Amino acid sequence: MQPSRIALKSGSEGIAAINTIMSVMGIDLKTLRPEPCVEGYSTPGGYSARAVHPIALAKVMQIARLIKEEFPEGRSLSAIGGVETGNDAAEFILLGADTVQVCTGVMMHGYGLVKKLCTELQDFMRMHDFSSIEDFRGASLPYFTTHTDLVQRQKEAIKQRKAIRMGLQSDKDWTGDGFVKETESMVSN
Ligand SMILES: Cc1cc2nc3c(=O)[nH]c(=O)nc-3n(C[C@H](O)[C@H](O)[C@H](O)COP(=O)(O)O)c2cc1C
Repeated sequence: MQPSRIALKSGSEGIAAINTIMSVMGIDLKTLRPEPCVEGYSTPGGYSARAVHPIALAKVMQIARLIKEEFPEGRSLSAIGGVETGNDAAEFILLGADTVQVCTGVMMHGYGLVKKLCTELQDFMRMHDFSSIEDFRGASLPYFTTHTDLVQRQKEAIKQRKAIRMGLQSDKDWTGDGFVKETESMVSN
């Protein structure tokens, strides 16, 4: 987070994240040579596409929060990493991205992917009745919290479910048709 903070404090108009992630793809267990192998040798290279998408989501979420909390006058955030579908793009926008970029997806599937991506993004918007990107930009950001808070919330929820369980105390309370729901209501987690 510190590189983004320093860049923004130093006057950057915005942040584009993420780039590729330095990786070694594997080792050929027959030849014992690292992969990808060029004339018997390899070098760590940039991992991209779907594999990096969850990592990119986390980074974009952190940068979006940083901008919101420390640069309230507004800076732009361009999200990159594993975008191949409209849903992938929607996820980044839900985390607060102003724009979304595609690199490997277009290399693999051609520029036609962008048209498909736009159609899928519109399908997502229709499903939620969103009429513009602004209707959902950053909408998922408020649902991130700390690990400690998650534990606390779960404890509280279990306590409440246990209290509800107290309501079904006698066999005559079973309704028959509601058996599944009533059973679920008695499970604390
Ligand atoms: C073959 C290739 C070349 C790239 N070249 C550059 C580059 O010159 N400068 C740069 O900032 N990022 C470069 N990137 C990183 C991409 O812009 C992008 O940040 C990264 O691949 C993650 O997005 P993706 O999953 O859509 O590929 C390159 C990526 C690939 C796969």
